[in-house]
Amino acid sequence: MSGRALLEATDLVKRYRANGGLFGAARGARAVDGVSLAVRRGETFGLVGESGSGKSTTGRLLLGLEKTDSGSVSFDGAPLPAIDSVAWRRQRARMQMVFQDPPGSLDPRMTIREQLEEPLVIHGMGNKGARRERVEALLDAVGLGRELAARYPRQISGGQCQRVVIARAIATSPDLLVCDEPLSALDVSTQAQIASLLKDLQARIGMALVFISHDLRAVRQLSDHVAVMYLGRIVEEGNAQDIFDRPLHPYTKALVAAIPKFGDDHARPSLLESAPAPPHEATGCKFRSNCPLAAASCAATAPVLRSLRAGRKVACGVVSDETSEAA
Ligand SMILES: Nc1ncnc2c1ncn2[C@@H]1O[C@H](COP(=O)(O)OP(=O)(O)O)[C@@H](O)[C@H]1O
Ligand SMILES: [Mg+2]
Repeated sequence: MSGRALLEATDLVKRYRANGGLFGAARGARAVDGVSLAVRRGETFGLVGESGSGKSTTGRLLLGLEKTDSGSVSFDGAPLPAIDSVAWRRQRARMQMVFQDPPGSLDPRMTIREQLEEPLVIHGMGNKGARRERVEALLDAVGLGRELAARYPRQISGGQCQRVVIARAIATSPDLLVCDEPLSALDVSTQAQIASLLKDLQARIGMALVFISHDLRAVRQLSDHVAVMYLGRIVEEGNAQDIFDRPLHPYTKALVAAIPKFGDDHARPSLLESAPAPPHEATGCKFRSNCPLAAASCAATAPVLRSLRAGRKVACGVVSDETSEAA
């Protein structure tokens, strides 16, 4: 599993203008605050964190759907082409995204067949006959009956909509698929079906998958590698099983401890609800007001993500492999 990463992001920063702010984006809160990550070919990279931690923004930046304030992304060894350039549009065939809201991602005036054919037409793939066959193969691949091709989005269920959205995203056989909360609009049994569909497609097609979710159970089920985000930063990263078995960062520990056990569907209160969000200008570690390990030094400097052993990275000034071993 070594070799060059398919996608590499370096120090991404994105600020949004605070509502009515006079000073514009330069003074805005940092939705993404120095994120670096690498996604390898064929792997599932889970991006997890609570609502507002910057996951969706990171996903959009990775595909160049939004401009970064600073930092860079490279795909297959080359910098992402400028947004909306011809080269970028061409590249989109190789990097696709599934957004959170399945019905909202489909055009209500187009049949399912037309929606699935559209990316093939845009990217000039195949003649009419070949595209027809491809649409049928896509419906098969996502477990939908071919008779659905003639229907409109309002005539199918939410779970079927999500299957169509996924089918459309893989129509051009992308090397990378970014799925932003692909399960959250679905009921529990449909969530399980779509999760296993994604796992199955990923294995069969061999594409890399960036799986964005606030649902740790789903992330654990699907991911090879996991990055945990907190207030715009990655606070911990590593092999998925490792992270869930032996979380090191106090924030990850709290998240993992709050995963509902099987059969317990009562959501635990969010960790972030217990304390007001610190102002973004604050120096030091942003987690310190919630942190059981906080020391005086945590107020002085913001921890950077540093490598521990076995590919684990942690952004914490206190924790080390040894302290967690002892805990
Ligand atoms: N288009 C936008 N305009 C202004 N603020 C935004 C925009 N998109 C996201 N944000 C803010 O950036 C932060 C991170 O948001 P987001 O990336 O959507 O997080 P997540 O996907 O983890 O819930 C949040 O505080 C959110 O309110
Ligand atoms: Mg989001």
